Amino acid sequence: MRQTLVVGNWKMHGSRASVAALLGEVVGSLPAGAAETAVCPSYVHLAQALELCEGSAVAVGAQDCSHMQSGAYTGEVSAQMLVDMGCRWVILGHSERRQYHSESDNLVAAKLGAAIEAGLRPIVCVGETREQRESGEEEIVVARQLRGALDGQISLAGLVVAYEPVWAIGTGLTASPEQAQAMHAFIRKCLVDVNGIDADATRVLYGGSVKADNAAELFAQQDIDGALVGGAALKAGDFLAIVGAGHG
Ligand code: 13P
Repeated sequence: MRQTLVVGNWKMHGSRASVAALLGEVVGSLPAGAAETAVCPSYVHLAQALELCEGSAVAVGAQDCSHMQSGAYTGEVSAQMLVDMGCRWVILGHSERRQYHSESDNLVAAKLGAAIEAGLRPIVCVGETREQRESGEEEIVVARQLRGALDGQISLAGLVVAYEPVWAIGTGLTASPEQAQAMHAFIRKCLVDVNGIDADATRVLYGGSVKADNAAELFAQQDIDGALVGGAALKAGDFLAIVGAGHG
């Protein structure tokens, strides 16, 4: 049985005060026996989040990392630096990185290689746009993104995939549980063909307008193993309810 995993992607939100308030509540009220839980604040709030989560069941991760190990790369943060701080997770290939920073599948693959080498647990995001879904290309797009990131990696044990249809992110439009399940099953089928992956054991998260009131229905689907949560992760009560909808 795959343990549910709920990850909060805080994107570019937060201040020292809001991080303290949010994590104070999340860490203090985490339901027992619920989903495995992680939060991914911005780089500048990582140290504070790590301190606030120390000794708790809430892990901390980053929203991205460099594909390079070290050197003259102004503005970049390496996977090794994140490990050194105490981060456990890293989100890679989020559609907002692909859209606003022109991240290609090749770059996502290089970042994934760097994360694996440093010992971070990667969450690789895939998902189609509305136009791609409307023209029936969603499986082609997702399969290409998966292959582009995963082929040729040295080790993919512990990999997490997040299916985030771009049309459902921040829009209030959620894929129906059936639509999401169909794509998750397709993703698991694709993973069978990737060397070095135990497809049955690999968790596939859903992301895109996950809320307290739709999480349980999504998690009840056979191939949905948790959620990557944006907006609702910024409200302690909502995030805790989503975590509580999962199982440990
Ligand atoms: P929302 O939950 O705000 O739609 O964001 C989803 C997301 O992009 C998580 O990575």
